[in-house]
Amino acid sequence: MSRRLALALMLASAVGSAAGAPAARDPGRGELLYATHCDACHNVQVHWRDKQAVSDWKSLEFEVRRWQGVAGLGWSDADIGEVARYLNALHYHFPPRTP
Ligand code: HEC
Repeated sequence: MSRRLALALMLASAVGSAAGAPAARDPGRGELLYATHCDACHNVQVHWRDKQAVSDWKSLEFEVRRWQGVAGLGWSDADIGEVARYLNALHYHFPPRTP
């Protein structure tokens, strides 16, 4: 777990160092949103299940969208994307999305 966290932080700071570009987004935003709104109810174990609902980027974003809806948060597409990216770096490790 701590190795995963360290990796996520490393990825985040790698993204952060490229932050000159106008399209760059805050790499910590997905983590902050998730820690604030999602961690309280289900801990990280939910994402370690053998039979998981998430199998690719599409289902990951679907679940993030579903759960922010359940929690009544009204997240934008950008916020949903940030949290999906955070969870992917933390756990799922799907290859980077092609635009
Ligand atoms: C009301 C409690 C609760 C809240 C709040 C909640 N979750 Fe969940 N979440 C669960 C439970 C329970 C499951 C597993 C059972 C299921 O899939 O229905 C789950 C499953 C998931 C999964 C699928 C995991 C997998 O690999 O199969 C994702 C992704 C997820 N939640 C993301 C989020 C996000 C993002 C938020 C914050 C917007 C959030 N959840 C808030 C209870 C919650």
